[in-house]
Amino acid sequence: METLKDKIDIERLPQHIAVIMDGNGRWAKEKGKMRIFGHQNGVGAVRAISEACAELGVKYLTLYAFSTENWNRSQIEVDALMRLLSKTIAEEVKTLNDNDIRLNAIGDLKRLPKYNYDALMKAIDETKDNKRMTLTLCLSYSGRWEIAQAAKTLAEKVKSGELDIEQIDENAFSKYLSTNDMPDPELLIRTSGEERISNFLLWQLAYSEFYFTDVFWPDFGKENLYSAIVSYQNRERRFGKTSEQLTDNK
Ligand code: IPE
Ligand code: IPE
Ligand code: MG
Repeated sequence: METLKDKIDIERLPQHIAVIMDGNGRWAKEKGKMRIFGHQNGVGAVRAISEACAELGVKYLTLYAFSTENWNRSQIEVDALMRLLSKTIAEEVKTLNDNDIRLNAIGDLKRLPKYNYDALMKAIDETKDNKRMTLTLCLSYSGRWEIAQAAKTLAEKVKSGELDIEQIDENAFSKYLSTNDMPDPELLIRTSGEERISNFLLWQLAYSEFYFTDVFWPDFGKENLYSAIVSYQNRERRFGKTSEQLTDNK
């Protein structure tokens, strides 16, 4: 019997998948539990999806774990998330190394508590030589923050004479984003039924295919990922051209 995984054309895999992992709180609420119980169970989904992507041959997996706006949640939830993050990072380094996965993090990382920042930097260092896949955690991240940062760096370079204004174009600008060493995501997945970007990779998602599912993040498993990839592979990415232009290869 053909499985969902068999339907995936390995030759046309997205190189980069980005995920807005949403719905942990509602998942917990449904079960009459505290929100943090949902976050704790979300870790299992992170593990499953990282493993599935690495097995398939996806080169970059980028996960939205904590947004700039999430700092506005209750202190109790923020503290619990920060503790969960460092605990998970410490526990997962071995698995990342066993699976040849490089850990990376983007966002305003200096805002993280020091114990957390240190744990993150240590794990990044300990996995830096891994080649199979890059797993990027977006922490204290927002797209507008990132674009403003890039603009600031560019302005400084122009001011110091290192860069000429005429050299600034889309390509040059991309180099100042924290994703400068990655291709743009071909596929964005958001769980939990919400259909918005919530300040995620605003620049990089310009031409990504979006996949929304009602499944809450802790329940999102490998089969759900395969469905998203199959859906992606059934779409025609036109990049402004017409369908005829693509099929005629003009
Ligand atoms: C996503 O789940 C995780 C984070 C934003 C940290 P939520 O915590 O947003 O869960 P819901 O959306 O309230 O259900
Ligand atoms: C987006 O989820 C951020 C992360 C998944 C980390 P939110 O749950 O914070 O998004 P909004 O505020 O409902 O749009
Ligand atoms: Mg949410």
